[in-house]
Amino acid sequence: MATGVRRVALLGATGSIGRQALEIIAEHSELELCALASGSQPLDELAARHGVEHVQVGGDLTDLLEASEPDLVLNAVVGFAGVEATLWALERGVTLALANKESLVAAGDLAVAAWKRGGGLLLPVDSEHSAVFQCLEGRAPETLDSLVLTASGGPFRNHSSAELAHVSVEDALAHPTWSMGPKITVDSATLANKGLELMEAHFLFGLPYEKIEVVVHPASIVHALVRFRDGAALAHLGHPDMRVPISFALTFPARAATPVAPLDLAAGLTLEFEAPDAERFPLLRLAREAGESGGTYPCAFNAANEVAVASFLEGRIVFTDVAPLVEDVLAQVDGTPARDLAELVEADADARGRAEEVSARPPANGVRA
Ligand SMILES: NC(=O)c1ccc[n+]([C@@H]2O[C@H](COP(=O)([O-])OP(=O)(O)OC[C@H]3O[C@@H](n4cnc5c(N)ncnc54)[C@H](OP(=O)(O)O)[C@@H]3O)[C@@H](O)[C@H]2O)c1
Repeated sequence: MATGVRRVALLGATGSIGRQALEIIAEHSELELCALASGSQPLDELAARHGVEHVQVGGDLTDLLEASEPDLVLNAVVGFAGVEATLWALERGVTLALANKESLVAAGDLAVAAWKRGGGLLLPVDSEHSAVFQCLEGRAPETLDSLVLTASGGPFRNHSSAELAHVSVEDALAHPTWSMGPKITVDSATLANKGLELMEAHFLFGLPYEKIEVVVHPASIVHALVRFRDGAALAHLGHPDMRVPISFALTFPARAATPVAPLDLAAGLTLEFEAPDAERFPLLRLAREAGESGGTYPCAFNAANEVAVASFLEGRIVFTDVAPLVEDVLAQVDGTPARDLAELVEADADARGRAEEVSARPPANGVRA
């Protein structure tokens, strides 16, 4: 990574991560915004305020990256739309601060191969993966045993299956500990988010799936644990505040100060953990199976889930339709590995098309929302 001034391309500047990143960048004179991108919201005002020349709304994000020549790409786009930008940065060895987990999950092996060829830094922004990255810093790989990712359990952690069938979009968007964009908030409620994170951890840290555990930890204070071969486990603790992992990635390796308060342990802190309920939240199991199956199964999982979440947010399906929809699509596709981006885009489109068909089917019990 270049020393001195770091030119930052911020993709997804209007989103939850993007807005927090803008605040952090404004506090650091060594971070210079060189590009801004959004999906559909205008960026003129933001560009003028931050003095950014290269701006793009929608379209091919690699055009913007080519033109703006960043030292660091913060990919905070939501969904598969971020995949080209992720591959662009990895291939060129440009530092990638990755919030857009969907791109790494969908591109999987292609992304890892591009990362190896490019030889650059991939800094996770997802809080759990940033936590693992920090616990692993400076450790010899052979000392590592396994990883534990924590999940808040979402707003429906204590709901029965019957209650889950009647939750509303508003209920699903009321996350107990994190404030985030709508897609990841719904993913947190279904546990698809933890499923995506499981696959993200596999590709980021190169561990087999059986070495990555997920536990529910409602307070979201412990973000992840790394277990070592001698029986020790290192944990990463902090308030659930995305400014910490965003700042860590943007200022790496300086670990700049943030306004986030330290944990007050003396005030009392009880840390509770429990196993996730695979019956009520099948998307975690489906993600693990898709990850273990490999090829384009993770891409299909992501595509089907994106369609299902959009359908739920639009009121076309109910909450408990999301997992069966994804399962249906995974059963239809053959997971043939993608040899290049064009084949990956094809696999994504195929799974999306199938998911749209499933979501348009009349509900079996006739009581869909
Ligand atoms: N929010 C969190 O706390 C959090 C935590 C961990 C990981 N993440 C991950 O970070 C990513 C962003 O999450 P978020 O919560 O910030 O989402 P969000 O609030 O919905 O924002 C999404 C951003 O992506 C932009 N976008 C959508 N489609 C695009 C396209 N085709 N080209 C360029 N930009 C596009 C949106 O632009 P418009 O506004 O114009 O639509 C918006 O700026 C997701 O992958 C999420 O899983 C988020």
